[in-house]
Formats: sequence, structure tokens, C-alpha cells
Amino acid sequence: MKLIQYHQIQNFAARTHHQQNRPPYTTATTTTTTIPKDHSRCSPYVVVATFFISLLFILSLLSTSTSQLLTIRRDPALFPNRPVSLATVPYGPTPPSIAYLISGSAGDSGRILRLLFASYHPRNQYLLHLDLSAPQTERDRLAVNVLSVPIFRAAQNVDVIGKSNYAYRRGSSTISSTLHGASILLRLSSNWDWFIALNAGDYPLITQDDLLHILSYLPKNLNFVNHSSYIDWKESKRLKPIIVDTGHYLLEKDEVFYVTQKRLLPNAFKLFSGSRFTMLTRAFIEFCILGTDNLPRTLLMYLANMPYPFANYFPTILCNTDKFKRTVINHSLQYVTSNISSSKKPSSINSAEFDAMVWSGDAFATEFQFDDPVLDRIDQKVLKRKRDRVVPGGWCLGVPKNDTCSVWGDADILRPGPGAKRLEKRIVGLLSDVRFRSQQCPDE
Ligand SMILES: *[C@@H]1O[C@H](CO)[C@@H](O)[C@H](O)[C@H]1NC(C)=O
Ligand SMILES: *[C@@H]1O[C@H](CO)[C@@H](O)[C@H](O)[C@H]1NC(C)=O
Ligand SMILES: *[C@@H]1O[C@H](CO)[C@@H](O)[C@H](O)[C@H]1NC(C)=O
Ligand SMILES: *[C@@H]1O[C@H](CO)[C@@H](O)[C@H](O)[C@H]1NC(C)=O
Repeated sequence: MKLIQYHQIQNFAARTHHQQNRPPYTTATTTTTTIPKDHSRCSPYVVVATFFISLLFILSLLSTSTSQLLTIRRDPALFPNRPVSLATVPYGPTPPSIAYLISGSAGDSGRILRLLFASYHPRNQYLLHLDLSAPQTERDRLAVNVLSVPIFRAAQNVDVIGKSNYAYRRGSSTISSTLHGASILLRLSSNWDWFIALNAGDYPLITQDDLLHILSYLPKNLNFVNHSSYIDWKESKRLKPIIVDTGHYLLEKDEVFYVTQKRLLPNAFKLFSGSRFTMLTRAFIEFCILGTDNLPRTLLMYLANMPYPFANYFPTILCNTDKFKRTVINHSLQYVTSNISSSKKPSSINSAEFDAMVWSGDAFATEFQFDDPVLDRIDQKVLKRKRDRVVPGGWCLGVPKNDTCSVWGDADILRPGPGAKRLEKRIVGLLSDVRFRSQQCPDE
């Protein structure tokens, strides 16, 4: 894997957006840049033309490498560079960090960007993936949009996968692309604690300050995964057919197809089903990707031709491995909306439904359409987020009139709100449930 940095894009973004009142880039951060320093005086058209020519050039160079990331460099003007006095650090454990993989398909870059803003925190690590059904131009545009946000550039924690994979919901290519993302995240940062794979249709119901605050009080070995070992006739109807996922070997978009024969359920391991959404620990992700136990790989082979296998992969590995069996909590902290949908007019969103969703105490909800009015309501009522801005947290020190998050404090300082109370109640409920132990990967 090759890590390539698009300095040209970065320079383009730096010169065309929000940068008038910031110090120029120091040469230390952009040593390989090809745009001379006096370019800031050139007309924007020249800069744009230079950018596209450089971009084409880079893309032609990159077409042979195995994997590319559009990486963002730290912006010295924004990154907190002064030590924070100890007196201001409130008592409490150090907050954890979360690695997010945000994936989408053709036409999803708008939803991905919005989800990134809504779930952003400088402590976390973000990797964006637009699958192969989206044109390369959309992927490039997403990268440029990300780079044009000074905060993302400053914290250096948002990357875009440049050369992507197909991820068909129906087939196993979703598993391979999720593992690909997770393995890049393992390399990008050595200190995240949980891994969350988000889809473009997901949205947070609490702020990152809330989530990190509550997680900082939990053992770092808990995996939040809906799982069930009960396989009824409906499930077994889903698990027995054999399919072929064309996403593994065709460059053109094609559908998965079914084979006429069926197979028996496995008995070398116990199959579990679960939900697409999970919150997994770093130790478990390392076990799946770097581990010496072979189950993660044999299971990958087995699931390669099963329909909708993504919801089976992680629960089955967790529950068949002694090391992780007792770390599973039977809930992924995701709310699945049933009645709230974009097909309705904003005025007809039922308040009771909205409240039920927010008060569930779950960290995320699914599934929302592009610019769903419900999302505006979540932004306004729950996240206190303005359009195209990140959610303000304890690290934002600016005045509300200017963008508060354009002035950084210490990212370790969290300012949890009511969302933290809701999540706390939810997790306390899950842990104190009398069925808690009996719901951990039962043998029966
Ligand atoms: C997970 O299980 C809970 C009930 O335990 C359910 O309310 C929730 O919708 C499930 N989530 C998913 C994504 O299936
Ligand atoms: C969905 O809406 C219908 C009618 O509008 C209502 O009867 C039902 O209880 C709602 N379901 C949920 C889960 O809120
Ligand atoms: C708001 O931003 C402007 C320009 O970016 C700056 O001159 C001004 O001092 C800021 N206001 C406050 C109160 O910080
Ligand atoms: C997890 O919760 C779901 C929904 O409450 C339930 O159907 C399932 O059986 C539980 N899993 C286990 C392993 O008990």
C-alpha cells in the first residue's frame, strides 16, 4: 500500500478557501509542493488550471499503485500548539478515540460530508470511502471538499480512499471493503480504541463529546454487537443459497447472481446473525486483520458466496472466539427508524416518533435520505450544529459569532450534554439487564 499526499490539492484548497486571515503555509508542511509561493497573486483561473493539470498528472501516476489515500496535512494556524495548563483539565479519565469508516456509493458524497461534519471530533480518525460505482470525479470532488475545511486540514484526521472497491449490499464485497478500510485505519493511527463503520444513510443522535465521555468510563474491551444464534426457517432460507458477488472480479457494475444449488448450515463453527452496524474494539479488529487465529479468514471464504453476509461476519467471529465471547453486549447502539422517512413533508414528521428516536439513548440512527428534513431537526435540536459546520464541543473556544470551532482548545476536554445522560441510561440498562450474561453468545 502506498500513501500518497496530494499537496497540489491541498495548496489549491488552502489558497481558495477561508485562508485570507491565516498565516500562509510554512514550507515545512508542504516541502514537495510544485506551486511556487508567489502563486497567491495569480488569478484564480491560473490556480484552478494548474490544479487540474497537476491532478491529472498525479492521477496518471497513481493508476498503477494498489491503494491511494488523499491525505491532509496539519494546518499550523489551527492546531493547538500551546500546552494546556493542568489546572484547566477537569478530573476524569482520558477520553478514548474512535476510528470511523464512512462509506457510500454513487451520489452519496453529500451525505458522507454531512455525516462527517455531524460526527466530527479532533480526537477521532476518519476514513471516507466512495465505492467503485461512483465516478472518480465524485471521489476527487469529495477530497477537495474535505480539504477546503480548515479544521479537517488542521487535525489531519480525515482521509479519503482514492482507489476504491465495490461494496454490494447483497454480497460479500461489503465485508472485504470494510476490512480494507479497517486495516487502513489501523495503519493511519495507533491509538484509536473503537471502530465504527458508518453508511451514508446513518446519522448521530448524540454529540461526539457525549459519546467519548461515556465511553471513557467503560472498559475498552466491550464490543457492541446485535447478535442472535437463533436461526428460524426464515433465516435458514437466507443462509443456504449460494451466490456469486461480481464486485470481487468485475470492473463494471453488475448484480450478484444466485446458483441453483443450496448448501447445509456449517457445523465447524456456530453461525450468528446480527446487524450491519457494530461498535468493535481495536483488539478485535486487530484479531480479524492481523491475528494468527485462522477463523477470520476461513469465515471470509465461507461467507464469500452467501447473500447479505455482512451482518454475520463480526458476530460469528466474536462468538466463536473464547477471548472475545465475554466482551459482547447484545446491542449496537443504533436506532433503526421505521416511520420517519423523507417521503413525508417536514411538517408531518410525527413529534412522538422523533422523540422516541432521540430518547432511545442510541448513539446513531438509520436510515436517512439525502437532506432528509429529520436531519435538520436533529442538527438543530440535538447536535446544535449549523450548516456545513462541525458539532461544537469542549475543544471549541471561539466566540459564537465567528465559528466557535475555528479557535481550538484542548481536544481532551469534553463538554457532554443531555445526550450523554441518554446514552448512559441506555448502557446502564444494557449492563444491568438480568439477561445480560445469558445474551452473550449463547451455546444453545
Ligand atoms: C438491535 O437489537 C435491538 C433490540 O435488542 C433493536 O431494537 C435494534 O433495532 C437492533 N438493531 C439493529 C440494527 O438491528
Ligand atoms: C408508525 O405509524 C403508524 C401510523 O401512523 C402507527 O400506528 C405506528 O404505531 C407507528 N410505528 C412506530 C414504531 O412508531
Ligand atoms: C471574529 O473574526 C474576525 C475575523 O476573522 C476577527 O477580526 C474578530 O476579532 C473575531 N471576533 C472575536 C470576538 O474574536
Ligand atoms: C439479542 O437481542 C435480540 C433482541 O432483543 C434477541 O432477539 C436475541 O436473541 C439476543 N441475542 C442473544 C444471543 O440472546
